[in-house]
Amino acid sequence: MTPSTRQRRGRRKPKPSLRILITAGPTREYVDPVRYLSNESSGKMGFALAERAARAGHEVTLVAGPVHQPTPSGVERIDVVSARDMYRAARDAFREAQALFMCAAVADWRPARKRVGKWRKKEQGSEVASLELVRNTDILASLGRRKGSRLVVGFALETGNGVTRALEKMRRKNADYIVLNDETALGADRSSVTILGRDGQRRSLENRSKAVLASALVRLAEKHFA
Ligand code: CTP
Repeated sequence: MTPSTRQRRGRRKPKPSLRILITAGPTREYVDPVRYLSNESSGKMGFALAERAARAGHEVTLVAGPVHQPTPSGVERIDVVSARDMYRAARDAFREAQALFMCAAVADWRPARKRVGKWRKKEQGSEVASLELVRNTDILASLGRRKGSRLVVGFALETGNGVTRALEKMRRKNADYIVLNDETALGADRSSVTILGRDGQRRSLENRSKAVLASALVRLAEKHFA
């Protein structure tokens, strides 16, 4: 055996580098210049995923809502505020992407109008006020509709036994996988998830660090394109 053959036989098949788009964190929907509607998402899962994916040699674009998380090394980060900003940034990056992980907790609603000045109590003149809301675009569903051969993974935070609802979301949003978790995942460093696949796959990972869950999701993408 010549040295070059030995080298070839000993070498493992190189993993293809994937272009992966990840969204993370909450969005903010402003009511007036100083008030907004948002949620408790910390962005930890999406940032852990971006970190692991970049470390595994993939090209990562991370579209992040307002969070206090350092940018993982080697990751292209695009900061956004509202669901509309996130939609525009994700839609643009999706064109070049091979896989989408939609980890962000996108606000479903935004105020019908953002007030130019502060919303003052006296404007209402009563003890009750109401706020008109309009629906934000469902980013996952919109990108899922035009996914072509891309891998599309959504997340579902459900209270109680959410498998049926998560499966319904997977179908409605045309995702290949849905990562189901519950409200204890919010802001936590560890989480229990069930990964549900369109092919009927169901895999539960109990009480794992978000770094471990992130590695499992990176492997899922790598296997999908292997
Ligand atoms: N999602 C999205 N755009 C939205 C709302 C949600 O892309 N406007 C994505 C989330 O990033 C997540 C998935 O859809 O990957 C599921 O989010 P969830 O809030 O659980 O789903 P909803 O469709 O908002 O369902 P509901 O609020 O009725 O539970």
